[in-house]
Amino acid sequence: MTSASQPLPPDVDADIFGQVRLGYVVVGSLRLDQWQRFATEAIGLHLAQASPDLLALRMDDHARRLLVERDAAEDVVALGWQLQDAGTLQAVMARLAGHGVRTEQIDGERAAARGVEALHRFTGPKGLSIELFTRPLLDDTPLQMPCSGFRTGAGGMGHISLMSREPQRSVAFWQQLFDARLSDRIELAAGSRVVLDVNFLRLNQRHHSVAIAATRGVAVDMFRTRIQHLNLEVATLDDLSAAYERCQQLGCRFARGVGQHPNDRELSFYVVTPSGFDLEIGWDALTVDEQVWQAGATYPNMSTWGHDIPGLFGNELSFGHLLRSARSLLRREFLPW
Ligand SMILES: [Fe+2]
Repeated sequence: MTSASQPLPPDVDADIFGQVRLGYVVVGSLRLDQWQRFATEAIGLHLAQASPDLLALRMDDHARRLLVERDAAEDVVALGWQLQDAGTLQAVMARLAGHGVRTEQIDGERAAARGVEALHRFTGPKGLSIELFTRPLLDDTPLQMPCSGFRTGAGGMGHISLMSREPQRSVAFWQQLFDARLSDRIELAAGSRVVLDVNFLRLNQRHHSVAIAATRGVAVDMFRTRIQHLNLEVATLDDLSAAYERCQQLGCRFARGVGQHPNDRELSFYVVTPSGFDLEIGWDALTVDEQVWQAGATYPNMSTWGHDIPGLFGNELSFGHLLRSARSLLRREFLPW
């Protein structure tokens, strides 16, 4: 029996779908000058802090959304996930404990540097630091951005896409940690001999917060970076076209031109970040209505139109893709369980 003074144990089995969203993303890079120009002038984010070792960028009232810290990784190094409340956090912590995953609590200045009051972190898929928080630090300083805004809110700040050599275990990880739901799948030819299967996982009303791509047959990883792309969603079509124009004028390398995905219906384009992974800038991604959503669809193309660039999703894979694929066979992919 639990006395009135003791807190109730967390309900590990309670469904926490809808109570988790992407809160912040941390990039490790030595190219802070390039990142500052790219993030502010091309993407249109608000610069909150620029010091020799850290860039902090805002896209809404959160004090920090995209962070670039001085680190040789040239990759995404951490994902901050905002949980609805202390009960949700307790449930997730209990699940982690059940899987034998050790977490580290961070508060004070180190948490403030991430733009949150406190966080619990552990090493997640592919070595990404998974950081859990409930209370973001807010900043009411008016945003200075060359666009009307970004879509964040209950769906979080965007989505990530990564390639996995352990797709079933990767999907299970997000399902078991956050009660992720499979929105749909895409299977497509990448080059003449490779088939990619992509699973789109949603944690909330956003069609997907995590996409996991895998090669069918021999599982390889074609990318140097843990994250293949990060997606941010602008508020209006005018914002999307203006961002495209700015990226062109600044000489950004486009990974794919403008196009539309068949599943989340998002209109988007992809540019290569200073660290080498892609950033997708999109608009008008579908909001899932749980009452009517039909799961189980599989689409045969990544795009209903556009997104044209020769390379991975053109006819053939590049030499770099093949070399990285072969190298990936020499190492294990880390998953917490
Ligand atoms: Fe995407």
